[in-house]
Amino acid sequence: MSLDALSRRAVREFQSAFQSTPELLVHAPGRLELLGNHTDYNQGLVLATTLDLAVNVAVARRPDATHRLHSSAFPRADIHQRGERGRQLPRGHWARYALALLGELEREALSPGGWDISVCSDLPPGAGLSSSAALLVAIAIAVGGLPHRTAAQRLRIARLCQAAEHRVGVPCGLLDYLAILHGKAGHALKLDLRTNRVRPIRWPRSLALVLIDSGVRHQLTGGGYARIERACATAARSLGVASLREVTRATLNRFLSTPGRRLRPGELDAINHVLTENERVRLAVRALQRGEQEGLGALLSESHRSSRDRLSNSTPELDDWVSRCASTPGWLGGRLTGGGFGGMTVHLVRAARQRAFLRQLSPGTSALAARLGGGLRVIPVNRRTPHSG
Ligand code: GLA
Repeated sequence: MSLDALSRRAVREFQSAFQSTPELLVHAPGRLELLGNHTDYNQGLVLATTLDLAVNVAVARRPDATHRLHSSAFPRADIHQRGERGRQLPRGHWARYALALLGELEREALSPGGWDISVCSDLPPGAGLSSSAALLVAIAIAVGGLPHRTAAQRLRIARLCQAAEHRVGVPCGLLDYLAILHGKAGHALKLDLRTNRVRPIRWPRSLALVLIDSGVRHQLTGGGYARIERACATAARSLGVASLREVTRATLNRFLSTPGRRLRPGELDAINHVLTENERVRLAVRALQRGEQEGLGALLSESHRSSRDRLSNSTPELDDWVSRCASTPGWLGGRLTGGGFGGMTVHLVRAARQRAFLRQLSPGTSALAARLGGGLRVIPVNRRTPHSG
C-alpha cells in the first residue's frame, strides 16, 4: 500500500475507533535482515534494509490518565490506566508491547497523561519483518515526541524500545530499531553493533529481493530466541570476553587447545555461527559494492545453513523454500530472516528475472517482490506539529 493510502487509512481508523481526529501520525517501515543472524546482541555486524511495508500509528493526547489502544486487526480498543502493564493480555499481544513502551516513556517523564493510539499496518506480524519494533519506534516518536535526526537521538530511541521489548520477554538486540530509524530509500544498511554505527550502502538496480512466507508464524516470546541468546552469553563468559564480537579464529583455537578448557553443548556452535556470520556480512558489503551477484547470493545461502545447523532456528518449511528455489532460474541465494522459527525466507534474485521467478513458484505460494523502503515519516494531522525529525 502506498504511504498516502496507508496514512489515510490510519486516520480513518483512528476516527472510527475514537470519534475524534488524531494529532499526529508516524509511519515506521519494517526492516529486512539480509545477513547477520543473531549477531546484533553479540555486538556483531548486520546487513539490513527497510521495506515499503510499514506500521502506521496515529495518536492524540487525552485529558485523563487512560490509554485507549486500538489496532485495525481487532474489533475493539483495549482500555488501560496509565502505569498498567497488560499482564492479563496473552503473551506476544501487541498491546503488551505498546504498554511496555508507554511505561518506558513514563519512567523517563516523556509521556504525560493518557493517549488514544490507533495502529494500522500492512506488515505481516510474526513474519520476521519486525512489526513489533516498527510499532515501538512509531509510538516512541509519536507519544514521546523524540527527535530522530542524529545518530545519538536514534540510538536513544532504539534503547528505549529495546528496554520495552526486554520487558515483554524478548532479549533482543538493537538491530530492528536502528535499521528502522536509519532506513534510506534505495539503500541497504551495514550496522556495526559494537559502535552502533549505521552506514547506508547503495542497492544496485540489477538485484531484487523476493520474500516467501513459510506460513509458520513465529513468536519470539516463545523461548527459542532466548535459548540462542543465552548460549551466546554463556559462550562469551566461558571464553572470558565481553561479547562474541571479540572472538577470532586464533583466540578460539588457543582456548580449545588449552587443557582443561571446555565449552558446554551449544556454545561452540554459537561461537562459530557468530564468527562466520560477521565475516559473511563484511564479504557481502564488498560483494554489493563490486556488483558480485553470485558471491552475494552464496553468502545468503551459507548464512541459512549456519543458522539451521548451528543455531537450530530454522524449520522444515524454511529449509524447504531455500532448497526448492535453488533450481529456479535467476535465483542467487536465500535464507531465513530475523529471529527464525518460522516467518519468511528472503531470496536474492537477478532483477531481470524477478517476474519470471515469481511466476515459477507453485500456485498459492505467498510470495512478494520486496521493495526497499524509505525512512520513517512523521505526519502532523491536526493542530499540534511539535515533533520534527
Ligand atoms: C529479531 C530480534 C533482533 C535480532 C534478530 C536475529 O529480529 O529482534 O534483535 O536478534 O531477531 O538476528
